[in-house]
Amino acid sequence: MEKNTKVILDCDPGHDDAIAIILAASKVSNLKIEAITTVAGNVEVEKNTLNALKVCDIIGLDDVPVAQGSERPLVKEPEIAEEIHGETGLDGPLLPKVPSRKAMETHAVDLIIEKVLESDNDITLVPTGPLTNIAMAMIKEPKIIPKIKEIVLMGGGTFGNWSPAAEFNIYVDAEAAKVVFESGVPIKMFGLDVTHQAIATDDIVNDLSKIDNPIAEFVVELLKFFSQTYKEFFGFEGGPIHDACTVAYLIDPTIFELQHVHVDVETKGEFTYGMTSVDTLGVTKKEPNTHFAYKLDSEKFWNLLTRALESYN
Ligand code: RIB
Ligand code: CA
Repeated sequence: MEKNTKVILDCDPGHDDAIAIILAASKVSNLKIEAITTVAGNVEVEKNTLNALKVCDIIGLDDVPVAQGSERPLVKEPEIAEEIHGETGLDGPLLPKVPSRKAMETHAVDLIIEKVLESDNDITLVPTGPLTNIAMAMIKEPKIIPKIKEIVLMGGGTFGNWSPAAEFNIYVDAEAAKVVFESGVPIKMFGLDVTHQAIATDDIVNDLSKIDNPIAEFVVELLKFFSQTYKEFFGFEGGPIHDACTVAYLIDPTIFELQHVHVDVETKGEFTYGMTSVDTLGVTKKEPNTHFAYKLDSEKFWNLLTRALESYN
């Protein structure tokens, strides 16, 4: 598959972030990963960075720069999701103690600015954690804003999973999300409305466990841990692999249905801080600023992930 879509994966691995990286780097993917940047989110940014580097080791992705980013949100105190992803942020599978390489000296925000400034306006940013790095890059160097091709993000939704109103990635840094959603950069938003349709049920995990290669085995171990926490915490039939939806869309947009809507981010509400106000009925009469994904073709999605894992044979 020709790798003709340039992306920067900004992430907080995180089980589902790891699967998104594995999907993006697979032979069925048309994505050229320009960089992987990390941000404080699921766990502390140092751990997320170690996890990103270890995932790169596991899939042999040794030619993609990894840069560590923001260790805290723009305004609020950091909040982590250790109960979902475990103490390391990637609990479950056996991982190398230390990665084979270190992250770059360059800060993630500076790497994003550098890559976008030198680009032909053809880089897609794919944030799957809090939007702190993306907002900081826009604030530090506004010249990148018209040069970003689009932002395909996992976050938000018409309901929450960290508060009743707010999804984790947005809730951790709503001020950063507000900067991004108000930037004018074209946004494709994969929120809980669609990611909760990508549930790794026991049957699906069982099917994936039949793929005979170490990467597939690694993903199965990730899914077993991640699904267990979702069964215990939310009573789900398995873990929703939220972040993989962004990469799956870029590889095959026909997997999803999206609606062009206006989205605002709440940064003031006592009970609604971090809420994405998704105007599906157009009642605000505001210009749409986001393509909001609301439907996923489950068969196509899991078929893509299966082919991606098989491509590591
Ligand atoms: O709410 C789900 C999101 O929060 C996912 O990106 C998951 O990795 C966590 O970061
Ligand atoms: Ca994530």
